[in-house]
Amino acid sequence: MLVGNDVVDLHDPESRPEALHDRFDVRVFTSDERETLSASASAHPLRWTLWAAKESAYKVAKKLDPAVRFLPRDFVVRLIGEGRAVVTHEAGPFNVRLYGTDEWVGAVTTRGVAPVAADDPVTHVGSGIERLGVPGADPSQAVREFARAAIALRMNLPTGEVRIAADRGIPVVLWRDRRLPVDLSLSHHGRFVAWAWSAQPTPRSDHSSRESPATAA
Ligand SMILES: CC(C)(COP(=O)(O)OP(=O)(O)OC[C@H]1O[C@@H](n2cnc3c(N)ncnc32)[C@H](O)[C@@H]1OP(=O)(O)O)[C@@H](O)C(=O)NCCC(=O)NCCS
Repeated sequence: MLVGNDVVDLHDPESRPEALHDRFDVRVFTSDERETLSASASAHPLRWTLWAAKESAYKVAKKLDPAVRFLPRDFVVRLIGEGRAVVTHEAGPFNVRLYGTDEWVGAVTTRGVAPVAADDPVTHVGSGIERLGVPGADPSQAVREFARAAIALRMNLPTGEVRIAADRGIPVVLWRDRRLPVDLSLSHHGRFVAWAWSAQPTPRSDHSSRESPATAA
């Protein structure tokens, strides 16, 4: 199961409405999305929620088809209920979970229209968001530390043995230099870093020997 994610810091100088190009909304959003924005009493967080849905869907689409480009209006967002959206695109559809506070908004996307249930016995989708501990810290490094720790914990592996590398810019998860059957997406913006990952179940619940753990590919 492929995942994509995105986070936007609502108070970052580049997110502020006055920082946006006059034609930003026209370039990025479909006419239906712009109507939803105009009708909203909270256009600022909604604008970036729609954006996060598009970008997180793009990250999944790009994994499915390396030729996909991020043309935001091609990723059409339909809000379908509290914290949920569907993004349509020729590589989709995509199911999106939306999250947010007064400080940030974020999205986690999987392919298909139905969300993965939290107790799904087949696929686990995990995600997290954290504020950077130290201003000026390297967000790429920080998000990898958080993601590594979360994946290692879930897969019952020592964090030190889990590594995040990149395949054409897309993060991949390694255990002792072998690919784990985990899909990972990372995002960072302003003061926040976020990660989302999915894993197929391991054949055994106890990998204490760790000789053939976690269905390493
Ligand atoms: C992927 C992309 C959307 C990231 O956007 P962003 O808002 O700058 O960054 P985010 O923080 O949300 O995500 C960055 C992370 O996404 C991951 N990433 C990079 N390229 C990726 C891709 N193609 N697919 C999935 N994930 C990707 C990386 O882990 C990266 O983190 P890192 O910089 O620490 O390695 C952007 O880099 C990109 O590829 N844009 C598309 C360009 C394009 O198609 N242009 C055509 C328009 S005409």
